[in-house]
Amino acid sequence: MSRMKMEETDLNKLSFESKAVYFSPEEDSQSISAPIYMSSNFEYDKSIYQRVIDGERKDVNIYTRCGNPSEYKFEDQMKVLEGADDCLATASGMAAISTVLFALLKAGDHIIGDWTTYSSTHEMLDHRWTDFGIETTFVDTTDLSMVEKAKKDNTKLLYVETIANPTMKVPSIKKLVKWAHENGIIVLCDNTFASPWVSRPLELGVDIVVESATKFIGGHSDVLGGVIAVKYGLLKDDFMYYMRWNSLTKLGGAISPFNAWMLLRGCQTLSLRMERSCSNAMKLAKYLEGRKEVRRVWYPGLESHPGHETAKDEIPTFGAMLAFEVETEELAVDILDSTRLISFAGSLGSVRTTCQVPSTMAFLDVPQEQKDAMSIRDGMIRVSMGVEDIDDIIADFDQAINKHCK
Ligand SMILES: Cc1ncc(COP(=O)(O)O)c(C=O)c1O
Repeated sequence: MSRMKMEETDLNKLSFESKAVYFSPEEDSQSISAPIYMSSNFEYDKSIYQRVIDGERKDVNIYTRCGNPSEYKFEDQMKVLEGADDCLATASGMAAISTVLFALLKAGDHIIGDWTTYSSTHEMLDHRWTDFGIETTFVDTTDLSMVEKAKKDNTKLLYVETIANPTMKVPSIKKLVKWAHENGIIVLCDNTFASPWVSRPLELGVDIVVESATKFIGGHSDVLGGVIAVKYGLLKDDFMYYMRWNSLTKLGGAISPFNAWMLLRGCQTLSLRMERSCSNAMKLAKYLEGRKEVRRVWYPGLESHPGHETAKDEIPTFGAMLAFEVETEELAVDILDSTRLISFAGSLGSVRTTCQVPSTMAFLDVPQEQKDAMSIRDGMIRVSMGVEDIDDIIADFDQAINKHCK
């Protein structure tokens, strides 16, 4: 018995929540869960052999570093969730970022990047890429005049994050895209801190979205993966083909079939998890704002956040990431060491609430003056909100803060 695959045009009419649980079944199976193709190698027959030597690589399985059916299933799912023209899955978020930059840039190109980009991205732009003759000017992308001033004749790319670490900075993607496109500059947005349920930057005009699927898309701290989603316009419509064959397969950052399957599974509960985590984040932010020991809370959903107005317009669910500041780094570590339910851990985007101290963890290698410019304070705690009962999380913070703040 075979089932009809839903046409993409019909699929796109569904809501995000419905699209996320749908995947196209195998034509010849009755399975309602996707199969995993744990194969690195694929068998040819005479016609496949001919297609490969004729240079036709689309829809032909050759070798998993070049593509795998489990990967394609996840890519198809992400394509509809991101509202993309095309999508590519990678081994990690950093593999997605390296793959896209390797495909896009050449010696002599210039990038404008936000100075709060994820530390490994920042490191790559600030050091590694300069060795290849690609220069980046770092600015505060919430200030369009700084972005304008940084522009050079060879500026090819504007690199931003939807919600940036650790102050949850929210640049206006709409304004940046308008300015960049008027100047023929491609816009790349790292949407990791938001997830496609909170924000779909391609719908705001961005050309390329990268995500660490390791975070909210996977959602359970048990898998690594990355996604590149593109909209054609400024980018030519052979860009994805070029990126797969000349960048991903050469750099080698292919996703494992098992991880692609895990991430496809993660997509199905993304909206439920994000809805809970975002509403929890707002409640926690309000609780923390009420504690006298807390110097400041950074959450785009709070009126006190500098990006609140932009967030209301562009990310109205405000996301599941927040940060707060206590007096010292020592106190921050003591509080996190005393939580019972909340995990003291580096990564983010899990069903479990996790916290870290950005100044000595994510931003350990960043010079102090740069941290000051980014408003990264020593006593800051970054919270990745989970799906637990918020009263239990607040009670856990309450006991941990009370223990150390008499
Ligand atoms: C904003 C952001 N982008 C990219 C990455 C890299 O993702 P991955 O660890 O999956 O390589 C991270 C990881 O924490 C991140 O926070």
